[in-house]
Amino acid sequence: MSSEVCPPEGPPTIRVIAMPADTNPAGDIFGGWLMSQMDLAAGTVAARRSRGRSSTIAVDGMKLHRPVKVGDEVSLYAAIEKVGRSSMRIRVDAWRRERHTEESHLVTEATFTFVALDGDGRPRPVDEVPA
Ligand SMILES: CC(C)(COP(=O)(O)OP(=O)(O)OC[C@H]1O[C@@H](n2cnc3c(N)ncnc32)[C@H](O)[C@@H]1OP(=O)(O)O)[C@@H](O)C(=O)NCCC(=O)NCCS
Repeated sequence: MSSEVCPPEGPPTIRVIAMPADTNPAGDIFGGWLMSQMDLAAGTVAARRSRGRSSTIAVDGMKLHRPVKVGDEVSLYAAIEKVGRSSMRIRVDAWRRERHTEESHLVTEATFTFVALDGDGRPRPVDEVPA
C-alpha cells in the first residue's frame, strides 16, 4: 500500500463528514470549506500548545491534490513543526475516506502559522501562559 493511501497512525485532530451544503457550483466540496476545517484543526493544536488564545497569521504551501466528494469522511491531522517566540508552525494534512470503502487518500496539505495572543490580542510568548 503506498503512503498516499495510508493515513498517519493515531487519531486525527478532528474528523468531519462533507455535506451537500459544503459544495461548490460544480458539486464537489468547496476548497474554502476544506481550508476552514484545516484552520480549525491547526487552531486546536495551537490552543493546546499555547494554553490560551491564538490567531492564524499565515497559511503556506496549500496544495489540493484531489477533490473531496459529498459524504466523504474527512480526517484532519495537525502537528506542530516548529515553535518560535510567539509563533507556532503547524503542518496539516487532510485525508478523505469514501463513505462506503476503507480506502483513504491524501487530499490537501498546508502549513499554518499561529501566534499566541495575550488578553489584549497582542503576541505573547508561547510558553507564557496567560493568567
Ligand atoms: C496575529 C497578530 C496579532 C500578530 O501581530 P504582529 O504585530 O503582526 O506580530 P509580529 O510581527 O510580532 O509577529 C509575531 C510572530 O509571527 C511571525 N510571523 C509574522 N508574519 C508571519 C508570516 N507571514 N509567516 C509566518 N510567521 C509570521 C513572526 O515571525 C513572529 O514570530 P516569533 O514571535 O515566533 O518570532 C496580527 O498580525 C493580527 O491580528 N493579524 C490578524 C489575525 C487574524 O485576524 N486571523 C484570522 C482570525 S484567527
